[in-house]
Amino acid sequence: MFISKDRTAIIKQLKEYLCYLKDIGIKEIPCEARVRGQGSGGNSRTGVSPVNESGDIKPTLESVKEELGNCKRCKLYRTRTNIVFGTGNPNARLMFIGEGPGEEEDLQGEPFVGRAGQLLTRIIEAMGLKRDDVYICNVVKCRPPENRAPEPDEISACRPFLEKQIDAIKPKIIVALGNHAVHSLLNTVSGITKVRGQFSYYKNNIKLMPTYHPAYLLRNEGKKKEVWEDMKKVMAELGLEVPKKEEKGLYG
Ligand code: URA
Repeated sequence: MFISKDRTAIIKQLKEYLCYLKDIGIKEIPCEARVRGQGSGGNSRTGVSPVNESGDIKPTLESVKEELGNCKRCKLYRTRTNIVFGTGNPNARLMFIGEGPGEEEDLQGEPFVGRAGQLLTRIIEAMGLKRDDVYICNVVKCRPPENRAPEPDEISACRPFLEKQIDAIKPKIIVALGNHAVHSLLNTVSGITKVRGQFSYYKNNIKLMPTYHPAYLLRNEGKKKEVWEDMKKVMAELGLEVPKKEEKGLYG
């Protein structure tokens, strides 16, 4: 009863306000995001996505993927097999962001499924989580040829989509894997060795832990211990049980 009364009052006020805008000569109201049907976090009854703090319509992973489409915004589309959008829990509290897909990821269309990916999976499992509990994606969504580092124009072309993915998921913590993820997300040029292990903030509101990339760990076994120290900080922040005693070979 109250709800329908409120709704009628709101519609009446909205109508009056729109008539007022029309009277003063405003012909249309710009709206960046399309209001679309239910996605993760959307309202299935009204079909409206929730709004974020700035009053913009909060993207959903589906809406971001749809906007990305068959992307040709940078040169990487010419050599890719698949766009590697991202995978995992759309409501994840923890998000891992790498550099860009490698050969195996390009073929399968899924991030971190090659050797480095298998190591990342072991790290996630050592934290007491499953891949499906977290969200995993990359700074660039298409494989750079010969696994070269992504170039600045490629990173910039993909950046809005990465930002919208983060906005859709709103994780509590982001783990940035390696230099490219850290540089891109923190707008810094500091090397990973200098910044790893200390929480920073992505856009002043999401905690971000920089750590070594798993591909680097494959070449530098000795650094695995440092990554585990970083992950223990992440686990503590998420309220996950942190093992007291160091067990050798936690993620082999
Ligand atoms: N390296 C990355 O940065 N991302 C992947 O998806 C795989 C390897």
